[in-house]
Amino acid sequence: MKILLAPMEGLIDSYLRDILTKIGGYDGCVTEFVRVVDKIVPKKVFHRLCPELAATATTASGTPVVIQLLGSDPVVLAENAAYAVELGAPGIDLNFGCPSKIVNRKAGGAVLLKEPDRIFQIISAVRAAVPCSTPVSAKIRLGFDHTDSALEIAHAVEDAGANYIVVHARTKMDGYKTPARWEWLGYINDALTIPVVANGDINSVEDYRRCLEISGCKDVMIGRGAVSRPDLARQISYYQQDESCEAMSWSDVSSLLIHMGKEMSTTVADKIILGRIKQWLAMLKSVYPEAQNCFDEVRRLSCFSKAILVLEKV
Ligand SMILES: Cc1cc2nc3c(=O)[nH]c(=O)nc-3n(C[C@H](O)[C@H](O)[C@H](O)COP(=O)(O)O)c2cc1C
Repeated sequence: MKILLAPMEGLIDSYLRDILTKIGGYDGCVTEFVRVVDKIVPKKVFHRLCPELAATATTASGTPVVIQLLGSDPVVLAENAAYAVELGAPGIDLNFGCPSKIVNRKAGGAVLLKEPDRIFQIISAVRAAVPCSTPVSAKIRLGFDHTDSALEIAHAVEDAGANYIVVHARTKMDGYKTPARWEWLGYINDALTIPVVANGDINSVEDYRRCLEISGCKDVMIGRGAVSRPDLARQISYYQQDESCEAMSWSDVSSLLIHMGKEMSTTVADKIILGRIKQWLAMLKSVYPEAQNCFDEVRRLSCFSKAILVLEKV
C-alpha cells in the first residue's frame, strides 16, 4: 500500500519534495531524470538534481529519494547507476516514458517502448551493476502509439530483474489525456509477479479508491495531483487506515508557497522563484478557487517579496 511521489522535471525538485513529504503520507520519491548520454554524469549534476544525496538521500522528513536515469545505452546507464549508488542513491529508477521530442530523438524515454529487447538489456545491465540490496525499477507508459505491446514491455521489465514497475497508464501519443487507462494497469498487474505501481490521474482519495478497484494494484505513484492537492498522500494514508483527515485550508497552502519561495531565495534568482510560485498557483486552481485570484495578481509582479504580500492576504 505504498504511496510514491512521481518524478516531474521542472516541477518537483528538492524544495517541493521537502514540503510535500513533510505533510506526510509518502513512502518514497523519485528525482527528475538524470540524462545519460555517453559518459559518467558529473557528481555535481547528481547533487543538483538530488541535493538529498548530501544527507543520506532522504528528505528532511526521512523519505528516501531514488535517482531516475534516462538514456538508451545499457553499458553507460549501468556505469551511471553504479556511480549513483556510490554517491548514496537508495534505488535506481529507469525512465521509459518521457515524451519529449529532444529526448526521444536521442533515443531515450518513451521511444524505447518500441524496443522491449533494449528495455530488457538496459534493466539487466543496471541490475547487474548495482548491489542486490539496491532496488531497480522502471517507469513505463503503455506503449508509444498503441497498447499492443504493453504486456511484452512489462514482461521485459520483470524478466530483466526489476524489483517493481511503475506504469503510467497512457501511451506516449496519449500525452496527458484524461482519463488514464486504469484497466491496463489491471491487465499488467495480472500478468506480472513483481509489484505494479499504478500511475496516472490519481488526483483525489476517490480516484485512488477507484484506481485500486479497477487495477487490483496495491501501490500508487502520484504526479500532478500531489502538487494541486499538497495533502493528497496524507489524505490517502488516513483513508488506508479507515480514518479521515481534514483537508488543508487555502491559508495553509499559501503558507507553503511562501515557505518554498523563502527557502529558494538564498540560492535561486527572484525571477525563477516567481515563475515557480506562478506554476504552483496555476496547478492549485483546480482544487482551490482562491488560487485563481492570487495567480492573477502574482503574474503582474516582478519580485517575490511583493508576491509574499499577495499570498499573505488570505
Ligand atoms: C511537468 C512534468 C514533468 C514530468 N517529468 C517526468 C520525469 O522527469 N520522469 C518521469 O518518469 N516522468 C515524468 N513525468 C510524468 C509523471 O511522473 C507522471 O507519470 C504523469 O504526470 C502521470 O501522472 P499524473 O496523472 O498523476 O500526473 C512528468 C510529468 C509532468 C506533467
